[in-house]
Amino acid sequence: MRLTVAGIARMKAKGERIAMLTCYDHASALIAERAGLRFLLVGDSLGQVMLGHGSTIPVTLDDMIHHSAAVARGAPESLIVADLPFLTYASADQAVLSARRLMQEGRCHAVKLEGGAPVLGVVEHLVSLGVPVMGHLGFTPQAANQIGVRVQAKTAAPAAELIRDALALERAGAFAIVLELVPIELAAEVSKRLTIPTIGIGAGPGCDGQVQVWHDVLGLHDHPPFRHAGRYGEIGKAIETALAGYAGDVVSGAFPTEANGASIDASVIAEAAALVDGQASASALVDDRA
Ligand code: KIV
Repeated sequence: MRLTVAGIARMKAKGERIAMLTCYDHASALIAERAGLRFLLVGDSLGQVMLGHGSTIPVTLDDMIHHSAAVARGAPESLIVADLPFLTYASADQAVLSARRLMQEGRCHAVKLEGGAPVLGVVEHLVSLGVPVMGHLGFTPQAANQIGVRVQAKTAAPAAELIRDALALERAGAFAIVLELVPIELAAEVSKRLTIPTIGIGAGPGCDGQVQVWHDVLGLHDHPPFRHAGRYGEIGKAIETALAGYAGDVVSGAFPTEANGASIDASVIAEAAALVDGQASASALVDDRA
């Protein structure tokens, strides 16, 4: 049975910790479910890790729909949340149109959007229309050009503002909130005050759950791991070794062998060759006469 938003609420109520992971394609969704994950985020981080952009800003709604639909086809038991990308929820009306496409075409079950006070009206409106919404506070990547990529709310005033924003998002109907790059103690305080779960990334162990980026967890990057990233494999290196082996075998002639193909009797080829050669000499005769 698929995990639902109500299931996530029950996990918080029971004090069960919640594991979420980003996921961007069908093959990965199949693996994630086989590994037991049931809470997947089609993050707009796909801009960097799947599409090679330098930030999430260039990601379009069409990009999100394309990837979300692929994940949905591979993860029938998961609660799939997809990001509303940059400036696709600048007004309540625009957010409705964006969320409609993301849920109808992208087949996700909930949307995530970034920010506090400025997006409360949008959250309230979406929730009133039956769209489950996940909030995102702290470092909000779509605002990186304004706030920089760094730990947020390190002093009392912004920390208080973040607590107020989290409470307001809960009142507006958000079913969970991502806390990204927030001091450990602040994330714990927010998590204590909310009845909805906090899902941390770079926010310490005091959150109700954790979200990580697929490529960070699996070691698919070249660059050294971020401090906040949990690295559970060196899959990038494993892929590189496998691909070098494949290319080397093709070049050396070790692959493919006859075991990698299907055979027919030699007489069939002889007959086919005779047919082709017969045809060739017949057309040469025609050419000579012309
Ligand atoms: O886009 C994303 O991957 C995210 C996570 C970092 C929370 O928003």
